[in-house]
Amino acid sequence: MRNVTLTQYLVEQERSLSGVGPELRLLIEVVARACKAIGHAVSKGALADVLGGAGTDNVQGEAQKKLDVISNEVLVEANCWGGCLAGMASEEMDDPLPIPSQYPKGRYLLLFDPLDGSSNIDVNVSIGTIFSVLECPPGVTDPTEADFLQPGTRQVAAGFAVYGPATVLVLTLGNGTAGFTLDREVGSWILTQPRIRIPEQTREFAINMSNARNWPAPVTRYIDECVAGKTGPLGKDYNMRWVASMVADVYRILSRGGVFMYPADAKHVEGRLRLMYEANPMAFIVEQAGGAASTGRQRILEVQPAKLHQRVGVILGSREEVERLAGYYAEAG
Ligand code: AHG
Ligand code: MN
Ligand code: MN
Repeated sequence: MRNVTLTQYLVEQERSLSGVGPELRLLIEVVARACKAIGHAVSKGALADVLGGAGTDNVQGEAQKKLDVISNEVLVEANCWGGCLAGMASEEMDDPLPIPSQYPKGRYLLLFDPLDGSSNIDVNVSIGTIFSVLECPPGVTDPTEADFLQPGTRQVAAGFAVYGPATVLVLTLGNGTAGFTLDREVGSWILTQPRIRIPEQTREFAINMSNARNWPAPVTRYIDECVAGKTGPLGKDYNMRWVASMVADVYRILSRGGVFMYPADAKHVEGRLRLMYEANPMAFIVEQAGGAASTGRQRILEVQPAKLHQRVGVILGSREEVERLAGYYAEAG
C-alpha cells in the first residue's frame, strides 16, 4: 500500500471539501511541523535541559514548566510568517497575539494548548499539543479577544499531537477524523487511521477519582454504577484509566472507546479544562469520530464563550455513555 502523507491527505481534502483551500492547508502543515519540533524536544528530555519548572506563572495562575514555554514559542514562531493567520491565542499567553506587522495577514485564527499534560513531563508519560482553527470575522484585520469568542461549531479545523511511544497527530477538517503517525527517519506524517470511529458503547471510564467528594450528583451516580459493575444497573464490569494528559486519554478513546470526564464540580465550579484550547477542539474531533461531547447540560460545541481563558465541564467519548450521563443531569434538574 502506498503511504499517504499529511500533505497528500490535505491536497485530497482540498479537492473534495469546499471549505479547505491552500491557506488552511499551509496552516495545518505549519502547525504539524511545529508539533514535530516540540516532539523532538520532548524526546530529548534531560539531555536538552527541557525538564522542570520555568519559574513563571501563566495567566491562569498555573506554574509553567520549561516545556510549556518552549512549546508556546515554537508554535508562535512557526505561525507568525506564513500569511494564513490574523491572530493567535494560547493557554500560555495572557492576551491574543497579533501577527507582527512585517508579515502578511490571513483569514484564520489559531488557538492552542502548546503542551497538554504538563504534570506528566518530568515523569516521562505521554503529553501533547492541542489546536483549534477559527475564521477571523470578515473585515477584521487586527482581531481582539472578542473576535476569538466563537462557539466550537464555528471551528474549521482542530487537531492534537501526542508525544508518546509513537508520535501521532489526529486531525479533523469537519469531514471525519483521521490519524497520522510520524515516520521519524523520513520526517513525514503518514496517514495510519484514515477514518477513526469511536465505539458507541464502552466498559472503560476516565476520571480523576480524587475529586469524588466534589462531584455533582449525576457524576457520582454514573461512577457508582460503573464501579458496581455486573452487580449494578449497567450489568457489566467497567475498567478505569486516568493518564492525566487529556491528549492521551482522548487518543485511547478514539482507539477503543471510553468516556472521559472532567466535570464542573464543587472545587472546579466552572470546570477544570479550557473551552477554547482543550474542550472545543477535542469535542470537534470526538464528534467527527462518531462520539459525543457535553458539559452535562449542553453540547460543548454550542457553548457561547464569554472569555478567552474560560473553563468548562467536559464529558466526552462513546456516544451512548455521554448520552446516559446527560440524561442523569437532566433528571437531576
Ligand atoms: P495542561 O497540562 O495543559 O494544564 O492540562 C492538563 C489537563 C489535562 O490534560 C488533564 O486531563 C487534566 O488537566 C489533569 O488534571 P488533574 O491533574 O487534576 O488530574
Ligand atoms: Mn491542557
Ligand atoms: Mn497546557
